[in-house]
Amino acid sequence: MEYKLRKAEPRDVPDILRLVKELAKYEEMENQVELTEKELLEDGFGDTPFYHCVIAEIQGENNNSDGQTVVGFAMYYFTYDPWVGKQLYLEEFFVMNEYRGLGIGSEILRHLSDLAMKMRCTGMLFVVAENNEPSVQFYKRRGAEDLSEEEGWRLFRFDKNSLVKMATPAEE
Ligand code: ACO
Repeated sequence: MEYKLRKAEPRDVPDILRLVKELAKYEEMENQVELTEKELLEDGFGDTPFYHCVIAEIQGENNNSDGQTVVGFAMYYFTYDPWVGKQLYLEEFFVMNEYRGLGIGSEILRHLSDLAMKMRCTGMLFVVAENNEPSVQFYKRRGAEDLSEEEGWRLFRFDKNSLVKMATPAEE
């Protein structure tokens, strides 16, 4: 099947949100997606983009006005590790079920690896749910190390309530 990869544009926001929700559904956490198209548009395509996306699309099936259908994507941004420098952080990675196993995911990883090399990154980081065994194996087959297992790192988060408690109280 013919597909092409390209950088996401503002017009892709509805498809990005659709795929974010499909991935959340796959991970059985669909009800945790709170973001709207408005926020995705502001956060990814304003003066300071907080994320970038690469889109995979195929010709046909008439999803967009130009006859292309978005079937997969990766959302990423850059972070910094003071020991080894720039890192590409892979936040979301999804190919629709009917289009899996065709090499689209591998091509997206090739694209991101090229980009990481160009930006002189020393690694690509990502989090995978423990029960997502097919993806754990997909990454391991490509050489990914499981840092929780090998180095004992644990993932933490302060949620909004914790932030509010720690932040300076709002003035009356
Ligand atoms: N579905 C999935 N994998 C298949 C299928 C199928 N129907 N058929 C074959 N495969 C095998 C392929 O042979 C290939 O094996 P390989 O690792 O030995 O090369 C591998 O699975 C798939 O390779 P690709 O075709 O290059 O990748 P694909 O386009 O299927 O995309 C992806 C990979 C993104 C992981 C996809 O399977 C997916 O969306 N999975 C569900 C969502 C998910 O788990 N995303 C990652 C979450 S972690 C994160 O976001 C950081």
